[in-house]
Amino acid sequence: MSLLSCRGLTRAWGAFRAVDGVDLELAEREICAVIGPNGAGKSTLFAMIAGNLRKTSGTVHLAGEDVSALPAHAMAARGVARSFQITAICPELTALENVRLGVQAREGLRWQPLGGRAAMRRGEEAAMGWLERLGLAGQARLPAGELAHGDQRLLEVAVALAQRPRLLILDEPTQGMSQGETRRTVALLRGIMAEAETAILLVEHDLEVVFELAPRLIVLHRGRKIADGPTAQVRADAAVQEAYLGGLD
Ligand SMILES: Nc1ncnc2c1ncn2[C@@H]1O[C@H](COP(=O)(O)OP(=O)(O)OP(=O)(O)O)[C@@H](O)[C@H]1O
Ligand SMILES: [Mg+2]
Repeated sequence: MSLLSCRGLTRAWGAFRAVDGVDLELAEREICAVIGPNGAGKSTLFAMIAGNLRKTSGTVHLAGEDVSALPAHAMAARGVARSFQITAICPELTALENVRLGVQAREGLRWQPLGGRAAMRRGEEAAMGWLERLGLAGQARLPAGELAHGDQRLLEVAVALAQRPRLLILDEPTQGMSQGETRRTVALLRGIMAEAETAILLVEHDLEVVFELAPRLIVLHRGRKIADGPTAQVRADAAVQEAYLGGLD
């Protein structure tokens, strides 16, 4: 059974279909990138899958359960975590506190804020572990808003990973990063992907990043899926070349 199964996903605003009849299957632990020109519908597709945006039509099943009508918090409770195209951490909280919120979300009701220092310490240790894995341990006690842009994006990934999701949705994790930051992020993500127990859907404009990270590639163009397959094969596809690679902005 697929972990994720989308059928005919569509989102229209008036007569305009931002996402138009997209089918998508994703297996447990599969890593798949989604590319397409600006406005192709990538973020809209992800928002529908994560329950952040109402679907005009179509269905989403997660591990066999029909989750089409569920809101984002119910999707999160089922193990779907996402990072946003625009950084969405709490800038006043420290980096560590941000990640601890992710750990806490995972612990759910078992977490008792007044339930003793031991639980608190365990949460903090787990959060610190994720910061270390993303190379952010040195900034743990700084307000997240004071971190460099690239580090804020990495922090967002840490918050999402701390939830130990079954499905991780990353919308342009390297957006706005310098070349050096992007290289560092790709290396970190590679390491994490190699051991993580999570399936990943990744939107990424930087094709070098896509080619390095994702064995499978989906291309969206004007809301429609125009290619879906092994990355090397899709990369060589003539229609893809024309729709995306040729018209790269
Ligand atoms: N709330 C909205 N109301 C109307 N149109 C919208 C809304 N949100 C998105 N759109 C339109 O839907 C289309 C798809 O947008 P979307 O953000 O999904 O594209 P994208 O592929 O993520 O683009 P980018 O690469 O720029 O992030 C765009 O034409 C956009 O203008
Ligand atoms: Mg987008």
